[in-house]
Amino acid sequence: MYNNRLPLVLIFICIVFGCDTSSVPLDHVTPNIVPVPLKQKVTEGQFVMSSKTGLRYNEDFKVSAQFLESYLKNGNQMELNENEGGNVISFEKDERIANQEGYRLIVSPEEIKIIASTDQGAFYGVQTLRQLLPVSFEKGIYKGGEVAVKCVNIEDEPQFVYRGMHLDVGRHFFSTAFIKEYIDALAMLKMNTFHWHLTEDQGWRVEIKKYPKLNEIAAYRKETLIGHYNDQPHQFDGKRYGGFYTQDEIKDIVKYAYNRNVTIIPEIEMPGHSQAAIAAYPELGCTDEPVEVATKWGVFEEIYCTKEETFAFVEDVLDEVLTLFPSKYIHIGGDEAPKTRWKNCSDCQRRIKEEDLKDEHELQSYFISRVEKYLNAKGRQIIGWDEILEGGLAPNATVMSWRGTKGAVAAAKEKHNVINTTTSHCYFDYYQSTNEGEPTAIGGFLPLEKVYGFNPIPEELNEEEQQYVLGAQGNVWTEYMSTEDNVEYMVYPRIMAMSEVVWSKGENKDYDDFVSRVEKFNERLDVLGVNYANHIYEVGGELHTEGAKQSFALKTVTKDKDIRYTTDGSDPNMFSKIYKEPIVMNKSMVIKAAVFNAEKQLGGLFKQEFNNHKAVGKRLTLNVQPNKTYSGSGGKGLINGINGSNARFGDKEWLGFWGDDLEIKIDLGEETEINSVETRFYNANGQWVYAPKTIEVLFDDNEGDFNSLALKDNELIVKAKLEKIAKSRYITIRVPNYGTIPDGSQGAGSKAWTFIDEIIIN
Ligand code: ACM
Ligand code: ZN
Repeated sequence: MYNNRLPLVLIFICIVFGCDTSSVPLDHVTPNIVPVPLKQKVTEGQFVMSSKTGLRYNEDFKVSAQFLESYLKNGNQMELNENEGGNVISFEKDERIANQEGYRLIVSPEEIKIIASTDQGAFYGVQTLRQLLPVSFEKGIYKGGEVAVKCVNIEDEPQFVYRGMHLDVGRHFFSTAFIKEYIDALAMLKMNTFHWHLTEDQGWRVEIKKYPKLNEIAAYRKETLIGHYNDQPHQFDGKRYGGFYTQDEIKDIVKYAYNRNVTIIPEIEMPGHSQAAIAAYPELGCTDEPVEVATKWGVFEEIYCTKEETFAFVEDVLDEVLTLFPSKYIHIGGDEAPKTRWKNCSDCQRRIKEEDLKDEHELQSYFISRVEKYLNAKGRQIIGWDEILEGGLAPNATVMSWRGTKGAVAAAKEKHNVINTTTSHCYFDYYQSTNEGEPTAIGGFLPLEKVYGFNPIPEELNEEEQQYVLGAQGNVWTEYMSTEDNVEYMVYPRIMAMSEVVWSKGENKDYDDFVSRVEKFNERLDVLGVNYANHIYEVGGELHTEGAKQSFALKTVTKDKDIRYTTDGSDPNMFSKIYKEPIVMNKSMVIKAAVFNAEKQLGGLFKQEFNNHKAVGKRLTLNVQPNKTYSGSGGKGLINGINGSNARFGDKEWLGFWGDDLEIKIDLGEETEINSVETRFYNANGQWVYAPKTIEVLFDDNEGDFNSLALKDNELIVKAKLEKIAKSRYITIRVPNYGTIPDGSQGAGSKAWTFIDEIIIN
């Protein structure tokens, strides 16, 4: 089929503005593509796109060609027509391109050729072409009339088949227009899956016709927690909050996503995170007691009972869900389901006996396997969070690993497919900067560079097992994102890093180059009106240690900028010293720095305090090494004069240990007079992080000089300070792990984390 339309609007534009290439200054856009393509080579010349440019495609490429056509029309009132002697954009099928999502894009002066074996592959060629056009096309404000595209030859394909982004609409609810923009972002970045987290304790967001109370009651909560969950006492805003998507709205969004090669996987949580549904239908729970839709965050004990009536409900709900979502996968949750109610429920205990199950974990497995069987019979597959491994994996389930990569490794070894969404690299609800002024987030620390460096394949897997890792996904839990602007701030630019993690080949990845592309890409986001976070102009710092000597290096990842700094406590300005080499730290000081271009300060203020206490640069040994994901700058980081950040326990200075009892020995080199020993522990219980109940301090390994300190547990950062005059060369600090996380708390039953930072000896 040839597309043939008379470009009336363009004729008008050409009359008014002139379409003569010699008189129109042309925009040269050099390739600056995110995610970086497999191979790209800039060649001689340029393709001048104008009203004379033709568009050729056939039915095989309908979705991608029509996307391009409407993009150009909206972007530049540029209606392409059948080629009549002018140059042409053409779509060409080539079955030899083995990767279904791969494409070639060849720009020569006469032709832009998009070659693929499928419409989806061609669609990604179109997305690349889009990034070769001026950013003003995004909102139809390009005023050039014509545009020059630099000639280039690109060959491209993804590394992973599953390239996802998740969005929790349960904690906060977002408009259908915003959901479409979210899908647009995925498409632009060549991601192919939107994991739509539709049900939660705090709100049920999908219309189910057979159960109207899900929408009348479960979709609304009476109020919402104000501030952070860790702030005590809890306060509430007193405002009713909620909403849901109608089935018509969902069908429209699914179609919208289809036309952008994005598959939507709905998540209907079970058996946990179901308090909203139980608020609407109390008979679904174990107690029949009325409960309310949750108004604060966390893990709740009200979960679905395993009696027959619940399965009838679940199956009815899924029947309607299946009519809305054609996806191969349906996500059925499975995470964070406390077993307290099941332990005390006669129906659940009877089920355990009748089914010959060992315990409540096997009962959860029964629940998931039973729902899996139901969905498999309807031709669908399930995905569940990694808790579905406990008590035995459902036979065909795909595991979404989030609590580290242990679940991913276990599932792949059992020959089950895996999607890697480990908290340490994929949780976009974590802070992305150690700056003080960041919007309140759940906790943790996941800067752009860490996302960028993620490898979805755990190193424990051999080649055969690696094939079970389908890909990775950024997760966006919205407890602390009440507006669409908040969501964008947390998502961008980390989504760009994730797109490159799942699309681009490892050897093509280079963080500095990525950042310079992000800097450019931000101009596109400006036009699109996206509220992205901009930390790329922040100063980064790194401590260098050489024997007992320490110096501090500053860096900026952006090019052609200066870092200016002070060490006298004043804020840097345009006249402050330009940073050239690491700053020697031989006394207590504070370094303040910022990135400047010729005219102004670009990013936020960087501040690093250095406390030159008696243990700095001395020897330290640990009985166990910190957990790999939170190993910071290693044991030495505990005596480098630098505190961990108050708001982020995941920065380089906090060391994390999962379940270990610690014994830390410091050798001061010679007998030293000591007045105090102090340290700090993070205590973010919502993130499974607990300060120890007591610690012990010993001088010179002398059990006779044994000092036990009881710690408080009512603050986010718990300080431990022993004030005692002693003479000692060796100091031992024993830190027993908190133990098992108690029932009713997030992560109940799991080992607690210990996070410790600087040990200050004066
Ligand atoms: C999860 O973060 N609860 C999957
Ligand atoms: Zn029960």
